[in-house]
Amino acid sequence: MAVLITGGAGYIGSHTCVELLNANYEIIVLDNFSNSKPEAIKRIKEITGRSFTFYPIDLLDEDSLDKMFRENDIEAVIHFAGLKAVGESIDFPLTYYSTNIISTLTLCTIMQRHHVKNLVFSSSATVYGTPETFPISEKNPLGALNPYGRTKLMIEEMLKDLYQSDQDWSISILRYFNPVGAHDSGLIGEDPNGNPNNLMPYITQVAIGKLNELSVFGDQYPTADGTGIRDYIHVVDLALGHLKALEKTALSSGVEVYNLGTGKGYSVLEMVKAFEKASGKQVPFKIVSPRPGDVAICYANPDKAKVGLGWIAKKQIDEMCEDAWRWQKKNPNGYSKNYNLDRPYLTGEGFFVGNK
Ligand code: NAD
Ligand code: UD1
Repeated sequence: MAVLITGGAGYIGSHTCVELLNANYEIIVLDNFSNSKPEAIKRIKEITGRSFTFYPIDLLDEDSLDKMFRENDIEAVIHFAGLKAVGESIDFPLTYYSTNIISTLTLCTIMQRHHVKNLVFSSSATVYGTPETFPISEKNPLGALNPYGRTKLMIEEMLKDLYQSDQDWSISILRYFNPVGAHDSGLIGEDPNGNPNNLMPYITQVAIGKLNELSVFGDQYPTADGTGIRDYIHVVDLALGHLKALEKTALSSGVEVYNLGTGKGYSVLEMVKAFEKASGKQVPFKIVSPRPGDVAICYANPDKAKVGLGWIAKKQIDEMCEDAWRWQKKNPNGYSKNYNLDRPYLTGEGFFVGNK
């Protein structure tokens, strides 16, 4: 019996594959490499010394998915595959609705057909919209601020309806806060396309000299230093949360939502300082206008995951920064040999093309 990992070549998926293999799970990995590289699959094998079957298929390809389920004895699915850039989702909403929602519909339909009803789904703290009370518990009001967030909210609702219709399903919806860092081998990590949107990869690319300086988006928020506060969580802790969720889905039916965060918030300037300490590198920055759609403060109440899954995030901010820096130093161009030649990109027609 195996666990299927969709989007397993991606940032969080690759780290989860490593932890599953280390825990002796049999895995099958699927990815269309729209936002990742085959090299990540090689590196997972290198880190773990374990082999597994990889399917280079698109989740929207129902026939290939069905064939894959026929060929394998799958007992559960961890579903990471999807598109995740907020700005891109505003420019290409249809691509986001189709990739995130239709692919999840297709996956669940095929799972149902093959009587595979254990699912762990990647949701996001973005479903809390503009939170007004902190820390954010699973009971906070929901609301999305952009198409990306709406896809996550809609999928959550869809999964709850699915369980209502058939109570054999066992579904864990995991709302991630801000994953950062990398495996301590420095062999796998976050490899964004183009200029990073997120803070940590931007900082590491400034530190390595690929970018000149960090733009800090606003210093007038109602926080101690005026910059935005987030709950940064080490990607390996996050990966381990998936193992706990998987154990739970195997034992019971139902649909449960869990925050995966540390419960502690850091400001942008605190992150810059922590990174400078961990790396010994200066990170020049300038203060610019706030980024539209950003919230001032966002950090989790992770108690439900502690009680319900027996999981807590253990790694501290210094380790997150050290590991992010090790990955960046060892792989200045991410998984690519030549950064500019083999980046996939999204077009108005909604598909990806290599070698722009
Ligand atoms: P990622 O882009 O690194 O990984 C996603 C993977 O899915 C990629 O390898 C991509 O090639 C693959 N993929 C996309 N569309 C596909 C399709 N149609 N068929 C097959 N494969 C496809 O992203 P990540 O950071 O690892 O995020 C994983 C999941 O977690 C996503 O669903 C994302 O929305 C969610 N999430 C991420 C964050 C974050 O900060 N990284 C925060 C909250 C939630
Ligand atoms: C962003 C997404 C969110 C997604 C999350 C994790 C937006 C509006 N939100 O959230 O939907 O779930 O990533 O992938 O894009 N910052 C800077 N300069 C930068 C980059 C970021 O100052 O160059 C600041 C931001 O204003 C924020 C903090 O750093 O205060 C973290 O930003 P980021 O890493 O983009 O994560 P989120 O804003 O939490």
